[in-house]
Amino acid sequence: MLGRIVDWIDERAKVRDLYQSQMVDYRVPKNLTFPYVFGVLALITFAIQIISGIILMMYYKPIIAHAFDSANYTIMKEIPFAWLFRHIHAAGANFFLAVVYLHMFTGIYYTAYKKPRELTWIVGWVIFFVLLLTALSGYLLPWGQLSYWGMVVTTEIPTSLKDAPILKGLFGAIGETVSIWMKGGFTLGDIALGRFFALHVLFLPLTLMALLGIHLYLVRAAGISNPEGVEIDKKKEGVPFHPYMTLKEGAFAMGYLAVFFFFVFFNMSHFLPADNFEPADPLKTPPHIAPEWYLLAFYEIFRSIPSKFWGFIAFNLALVFLLILPFLDFSPIKSARKRPLFFIMFVVLVISSMALTILGLMPPTPANAKLGLLFGAGFFLFFLSLPVISFLEWGWYKAKGGQE
Ligand code: HEM
Repeated sequence: MLGRIVDWIDERAKVRDLYQSQMVDYRVPKNLTFPYVFGVLALITFAIQIISGIILMMYYKPIIAHAFDSANYTIMKEIPFAWLFRHIHAAGANFFLAVVYLHMFTGIYYTAYKKPRELTWIVGWVIFFVLLLTALSGYLLPWGQLSYWGMVVTTEIPTSLKDAPILKGLFGAIGETVSIWMKGGFTLGDIALGRFFALHVLFLPLTLMALLGIHLYLVRAAGISNPEGVEIDKKKEGVPFHPYMTLKEGAFAMGYLAVFFFFVFFNMSHFLPADNFEPADPLKTPPHIAPEWYLLAFYEIFRSIPSKFWGFIAFNLALVFLLILPFLDFSPIKSARKRPLFFIMFVVLVISSMALTILGLMPPTPANAKLGLLFGAGFFLFFLSLPVISFLEWGWYKAKGGQE
């Protein structure tokens, strides 16, 4: 019966040809290591976020009189199992960013951003940026103390820059206007909530879907890199995507989902902080407001620099350097496995990023600020060293007659 249904569809939609060309004839290197799975895990998490988000949207009310109660009473207590989808969605946001960071670090380690995959990286960067905006807009929706005050701090950034030297000229004139525009008024209220709701449930997810389509098309067009950094003749040396990759990735996906649901059922306090179960109160600032963990490294780069102007520039430069990474590294050699100097700098980048994230959570003492500066320098050193390393590696490459 099932076979006849597939035959019927196939006669009209040629699904078997599609399956053959995209799953079987499409070949991937056989030496892909475990970290190559993070892209697929991100994809799975995206699907989880869309499904759980649609269910939450059915019961959430984006007006300030009801937002907090709809999230914390209707969803958490009234509708059967809606609490489960809130847990899944909140854990999913954190897991999503974690696997995307791991995916980015994998791309950096294997220098997968290099030719012919520069565009895949650039579109990936845009996805990362949109993902951060999606997380930021979603954070406001439960209208708890952390949601509210986190957004107050974010929307006040343009105003606060008006006191920074040099930026004074630009932000002095428009800073406050931009802040008011972001909030939709002098304070955060229904207008802001409605806007962030529309962005979070429709505009940003649709943008992400479109970008993901382009990203995956580019991965297919350029072919997946491989840990040795040598482009292979996939017809001769590759293995069919199905069943080799699908089974391997499927096995990792099972393990990932087991860890994911362990957190959803038994360790939710990490993802739904207690402070946010208190309704937003514009008259009571909570004692500690820090950005979510996935923003802390960038936040610490900004915070540890004593001048707001240079902090602002460094914060933006950190993002820009990530974007232009494929053009900073013009070495003919790919993969950290074959590039000892690059490997050392990669370790510096990983340690600096982790240290900045930890420091972002600590109180802003002078000693912490110094450490922040040190690890911030480590972060930038990675990017600045790339042209030098590339230059040296070109020399070695030529000296060996074009051999790695
Ligand atoms: C929602 C987020 C993302 C999803 C679902 C996603 C998905 C994928 C998938 C499925 C692959 C192919 C398998 C693999 O190599 O892992 C891939 C490859 C790639 N992605 Fe992403 N990605 C995302 C974000 C990013 C970001 C933020 C970057 C970088 C800034 C990026 C850069 C790359 C690169 C360079 C490749 C090619 C890897 C290679 O050929 O070895 N991706 N992505």
